[in-house]
Amino acid sequence: MFGKIKRFQQEDNKIFIEFEEKKVTVEVITPFIINFFAPIKREQRLSKAVENLKIQECSFNVEMKKESIEITTDELQIYIFDNFKVDIYDNEGNVLCQDYRYDREPFVRRGNGADLAAAEGHKVGEESGKYTVEVVKKMEDDMFFYGLGEKTGHLNKKGYHYKMWNTDDPRPHVESHEALYKSIPFFIALKQKKAFGIFFDNTFESHFDMGKENSDYYYFGAVDGNLDYYFIYGPSIKEVLGGYTHLTGKTPMPQLWTLGYQQSRWSYAPDSRVWELADNFRKRDIPCDVLHLDIDYMDGYRVFTWDNEKFPNHEATVGKLKEKGFKVVTIIDPGVKKDKGYNIYDEGIKNNYFATDKDGVPYVNKVWPGDSLYPDFANERVRKWWSENQKIMMDSGVSGIWNDMNEPASFNGPLPDDVMFNNDGVVADHREIHNVYGHYMSKATYEGIKKCTGKRPFVITRACYAGTQKYSTVWTGDNQSFWEHLRMSVPMLMNLGLSGMSFCGTDVGGFSFDCTAELLSRWVQMGCFTPLFRNHACSNTRDHEPWAFDSATEEINRKYIKLRYKLIPYIYDLMWEGENTGLPIIRPLMLHYQEDAKTYEINDEFLFGKNILVAPILEQGKTARMVYLPEGDCWIDYWTKEVFEGGQYIIKEAPLDVCPIYIKEGSILPNYPVQNYIGEKEIEALTLDIYPPKEGTEVKYVHYQDDGESFEYQNGEFNLYEFTVRREAKGIVIDIHNTHKKYRNAYKGFKFKVNGIQISEILVEGKSVNFSIKDGVAEL
Ligand code: GLC
Repeated sequence: MFGKIKRFQQEDNKIFIEFEEKKVTVEVITPFIINFFAPIKREQRLSKAVENLKIQECSFNVEMKKESIEITTDELQIYIFDNFKVDIYDNEGNVLCQDYRYDREPFVRRGNGADLAAAEGHKVGEESGKYTVEVVKKMEDDMFFYGLGEKTGHLNKKGYHYKMWNTDDPRPHVESHEALYKSIPFFIALKQKKAFGIFFDNTFESHFDMGKENSDYYYFGAVDGNLDYYFIYGPSIKEVLGGYTHLTGKTPMPQLWTLGYQQSRWSYAPDSRVWELADNFRKRDIPCDVLHLDIDYMDGYRVFTWDNEKFPNHEATVGKLKEKGFKVVTIIDPGVKKDKGYNIYDEGIKNNYFATDKDGVPYVNKVWPGDSLYPDFANERVRKWWSENQKIMMDSGVSGIWNDMNEPASFNGPLPDDVMFNNDGVVADHREIHNVYGHYMSKATYEGIKKCTGKRPFVITRACYAGTQKYSTVWTGDNQSFWEHLRMSVPMLMNLGLSGMSFCGTDVGGFSFDCTAELLSRWVQMGCFTPLFRNHACSNTRDHEPWAFDSATEEINRKYIKLRYKLIPYIYDLMWEGENTGLPIIRPLMLHYQEDAKTYEINDEFLFGKNILVAPILEQGKTARMVYLPEGDCWIDYWTKEVFEGGQYIIKEAPLDVCPIYIKEGSILPNYPVQNYIGEKEIEALTLDIYPPKEGTEVKYVHYQDDGESFEYQNGEFNLYEFTVRREAKGIVIDIHNTHKKYRNAYKGFKFKVNGIQISEILVEGKSVNFSIKDGVAEL
């Protein structure tokens, strides 16, 4: 396809290489990140994911060698050969990633009855695809693959094939589902303890085969579009994520209340039913911040309308709920009902806002409202219109928007390939826009809410592409009330986090099918540690609100929802860390223990930030489990305070009300008092729950505080408190420094709960201060 190398030319950070048959560009983005680009469909690189690409000025060297062009940065050596074959080494000459030099050779499917097997309904004999754009890499020994967004299966993707094509498929999600709602064409490879990432920025249907069709290679390819991929070196996974989010953006700080517990169900209507819920939460002493209204609140499923019979006075209802501490989030789907006289439809038709068929006629398919049209979100004009419409919801007092069905879903068969989108003037068909439809819808929603409220928008989306983390949080769509889906949610959320989507969650209790008391008890234990903590269910399923079963199940829900509220400042700190580093909240163990190979395939434990290890129970009837504690640290059982050395497997008894949780020795965890909802109590004193380090050592923790809702933090209006805990023979010394002091409502005091030993001294800004101890808690 490319032929032999003829010449190259360098301009700033770009190296233009001319092959016999094609010109390509290699661009040094930073010494760790290199872009490889060949204009197969379009001349320019028109990324939907990378906005305002930041190029780091750095020195690198380019030389023509006998057989290759050699590019050397401080971190990498890159060799480009004929046919645009690329080999990449680290700066010590260790191979990291090499192009495979032979043709792909799929394994042979043996058997004599593919037709017969198919007749019985089995899916057999699939051909391996050939792609217009394709890169095949040599499989090295000892490789592990992570990321790829929201996919079924396990944490390590080696040996599997996945498809990037946003898909709304209500059948139970099992390992044979190669595509779900989201497409994030990015993976991380770990090889001999060193990590790199590859981001294949192509929005067409793409495929990632991680050694399934042949264990000698792995490949990525797409049915159309450009060859446009970034190689992102670590060597730590953390650095790869830093690089990937340098390109596609980081999850911004959310409003504080979005971290509270959220209750949803398809069927919360009329308003009396919503009040019943609200009253139950408060009466039963179960904290809750958000109530979601699913499609039932709309007038005939017309977006941006309310059903005046079910919600006759919706503004007053939403307002009164707010007084009681409940925020209302409403669903908005993309499908606009075909209905003359309905203003959204009329405006859309008048201004040509809808996607069309190839002859320019607005394209119609079917979703909840019946015949519906699809706004062309790939067009800035349309996004502007959609974002202005958010005002309708915000004026009703709604606090956030839940975007659903934006793969886009369609009940009358898939959208044909030739449905056309304006794509900001570079007309594109459905094949190119499909995977970014939800991304652009979220962007429009985010921008609209931001403009109209001035606050950090809360948007939830089902479909997304790389980079959607800048605009929206995600949930994993229609799971089922299966133990298998609770189990799968752990690697799925870890991989979403490793793909930039750190604000994510699943439907707690499961969406379809009927939940059981035991399943809900275990799911809330896991959900308590998911950034988006929302219980949701399908209409006509069994109720599964916290009190829907027996009193024991209710008590377990209360216990873990309250634990969540205690941990709110810790989670908010993780969000702050994430906005600065790209690190997720739910982390696979190997993110912090890359040297410990025993962590590489742990699917049923995760780190919640770097201080808390959660090992949820994921099987029915199970009341004990094995837990691996990673090497290099000691771990303290949160419930019993027993201390364990890392680098070992232990057995933890876990009756139904116990989720195994371990705190890293040398942790300082900020806690809030439990509240019915965030903001109910003014937090005058922050509590620090301290798990002291080893004698003779010290640990530091930085806590972040701001107004919890506005963008003022971007102008520096926040506080940072640095706590140092030093363990000496006589006890521990705590030192507090307010290292950034711009937010007016600083804490008035601090409380310290030290697990295991005495406090001997507390210093504030280096000066010893008096403190009193009450019930084991030291107060300033
Ligand atoms: C889709 C969503 C689900 C929602 C339902 C009705 O199935 O994934 O969460 O409840 O539509 O709007």
